[in-house]
Amino acid sequence: MRNYWTIALTCIAASTLGLYNAYGAGGPKPTPLPKAKTIAELAERYDSSKCLECHEDVHDEWSESLHAKSILGTPRTAPTIITAIEKGLKLFPYSGVKEDADITVEHLMMCMKCHLPQLDEATDEVAREIVATIRNWQQANRDQDYTKAKKLEKTIASLNIGCMVCHNKLALIHKYADGYPQADTIYGANEGDHEDENYPKMAVAPALGEAIFCGQCHGQGPNFELDHPSQCATAYGSYLFAYVAHGGSDTCQECHMKKSGLGHDMQSYRDDTMIEMALDVNVEGRSLFWRKNRQEGVLPIGIINVELYNKSGHGIPDG
Ligand code: HEC
Ligand code: HEC
Ligand code: HEC
Ligand code: HEC
Ligand code: HEC
Repeated sequence: MRNYWTIALTCIAASTLGLYNAYGAGGPKPTPLPKAKTIAELAERYDSSKCLECHEDVHDEWSESLHAKSILGTPRTAPTIITAIEKGLKLFPYSGVKEDADITVEHLMMCMKCHLPQLDEATDEVAREIVATIRNWQQANRDQDYTKAKKLEKTIASLNIGCMVCHNKLALIHKYADGYPQADTIYGANEGDHEDENYPKMAVAPALGEAIFCGQCHGQGPNFELDHPSQCATAYGSYLFAYVAHGGSDTCQECHMKKSGLGHDMQSYRDDTMIEMALDVNVEGRSLFWRKNRQEGVLPIGIINVELYNKSGHGIPDG
């Protein structure tokens, strides 16, 4: 028994040290780039098609995922952002928003914190341009001008959770220890030179393969750090408190990227493989005759027993 504890403690000590020694090649906080002044400028800064040439497979997978259209959504997200403005921001007495012209980046962050974190690199004009573009897209659909609607839909989807959001902006989580992501570096599982001319360096993001990485956007509950906390996704909270706490040990990446075989096409119930992985369903039925009482006599009865076992790493559905 004593041996067991010695080994256990050594392991804990080693993994703790490992944690603090696993410095990525982050560095001092960089001076922020000048703010993007248009949707086009922000989209260009995070354009994933620049990586297509050498990472075609990953790019193809990613472009099928909802990350590739993270403010358009299925397309349910863009209209819901407008609802949040009309039924939320404009009705709240202290939001400072009476009309679209009052909307700032800070206001939209109650959604964009997770749906478009790079919006913090843009001016308030870009926040208003996004809102105007979504409204014009909705109007074009109402007018049945589908050519115009398609074009605007493309503009909305040009803002998304692309390669550089995950492999640079959000790649390093513990910035006091690992440093801040550097502008010339791509973060992954290896270090060295990187053939891309804009990102000539490659460095390790210690938590990229861990659930906490996805947890940055997949939610634990209300976003208390905001002046007006919002709540949308809560899968990470459920993962921590209902799955890991009951002995679950897979990471998000293991289920969604590896076991599913989907790689960067992270999916849910729209995908057959994920549906297959989601539930064990056991249905048993039997019929019998039951003698109830003298008046009603013998009645036919059906008994159906349905057992559902959630095999995913969190409550489903989420949100
Ligand atoms: C000219 C080709 C080229 C371009 C363009 C390119 N890459 Fe790479 N990338 C590579 C090669 C080759 C590797 C393999 C590692 C190496 O450099 O030896 C790599 C490795 C990586 C890795 C590390 C994978 C790991 O081992 O963890 C990431 C992440 C990555 N690239 C992301 C990107 C992103 C994001 C872009 C677009 C901004 C991009 N790359 C553009 C060629 C390219
Ligand atoms: C920058 C924030 C961010 C990060 C990091 C992130 N996600 Fe997402 N993810 C989102 C948003 C936002 C959506 C929903 C987009 C929409 O439809 O509006 C989403 C959608 C998804 C979906 C599809 C859900 C559905 O309804 O079909 C899955 C699965 C998913 N993410 C898994 C992951 C995994 C696994 C990781 C980590 C490897 C991860 N995500 C990292 C923000 C993020
Ligand atoms: C904590 C991060 C976070 C915040 C803040 C957030 N969302 Fe989400 N949202 C997500 C993620 C992740 C998903 C997809 C996965 C899920 O449903 O669990 C999602 C899904 C959605 C969906 C369904 C997606 C689809 O394509 O059908 C809508 C709609 C949505 N969000 C709208 C909003 C709006 C509007 C706001 C702001 C009022 C907001 N979200 C704030 C993370 C967030
Ligand atoms: C939502 C976050 C997210 C986005 C967006 C994303 N990646 Fe990744 N990527 C990851 C994670 C997480 C891993 C590590 C998976 C693991 O644990 O093995 C990874 C691994 C990689 C790797 C190395 C292993 C492999 O799968 O080939 C490359 C190369 C890579 N990404 C390139 C890209 C490129 C190029 C894009 C854009 C087209 C992109 N990634 C978009 C999260 C992301
Ligand atoms: C044990 C495997 C497993 C793990 C671990 C896991 N997931 Fe899932 N996840 C699934 C399966 C399977 C589904 C599909 C559920 C369905 O069909 O409704 C799913 C669904 C989802 C959805 C969609 C929820 C919805 O409302 O439709 C999101 C988002 C998601 N996962 C994100 C994550 C994130 C983020 C993590 C890590 C914090 C994670 N998952 C960990 C297996 C897993």
